[in-house]
Amino acid sequence: MPGKSADKKPSFSDTFSVVGGNFDDAGRVSSRIKGILKKMCLPFEVIRKAAICTFEAEMNIVCYAQRGDITLSVDEDRIVIEVVDQGEGIPDIDLAMQAGYSTSTAKIREMGFGAGMGLMNIDRYADDFDITSEVGKGTKLVMIVNITEGS
Ligand SMILES: Nc1ncnc2c1ncn2[C@@H]1O[C@H](COP(=O)(O)OP(=O)(O)O)[C@@H](O)[C@H]1O
Ligand SMILES: [Mg+2]
Repeated sequence: MPGKSADKKPSFSDTFSVVGGNFDDAGRVSSRIKGILKKMCLPFEVIRKAAICTFEAEMNIVCYAQRGDITLSVDEDRIVIEVVDQGEGIPDIDLAMQAGYSTSTAKIREMGFGAGMGLMNIDRYADDFDITSEVGKGTKLVMIVNITEGS
């Protein structure tokens, strides 16, 4: 049966690229991903959690990286959102995860971003969240949202 193989290949997978510094287009990929999840008729709360995580990760590429790729994979049990960027990287992840910590510029804050809550919100809304980074190279996030009825 398609999408039901024993090796658990995702039934849906697609990759979208995000351009750093392009605030005119910011949020485009997360809206697109939210639309895809809505078409799959997943529970409202599952879509909401995935959409918040994707939006925050996309904004971080726009704000702090040159470019990045967001891969959405969905199978029966879970949504996996993998975000890989080429950018400045994060020197201290524990610090970056703290509420209110931000290296955002005045320009970013003028546009209403950079309050320092993004990574904290991802950690809160993802059922599983992993972040790794290399300074001068880039950052990788793996965010998982479990698909459970009534969640
Ligand atoms: N993809 C990234 N590349 C480089 N630095 C990042 C990235 N994501 C987050 N950061 C760093 O972590 C800080 C905290 O991120 P976040 O919690 O999303 O808050 P904000 O984006 O509002 O600053 C950022 O200010 C930035 O210094
Ligand atoms: Mg952010």
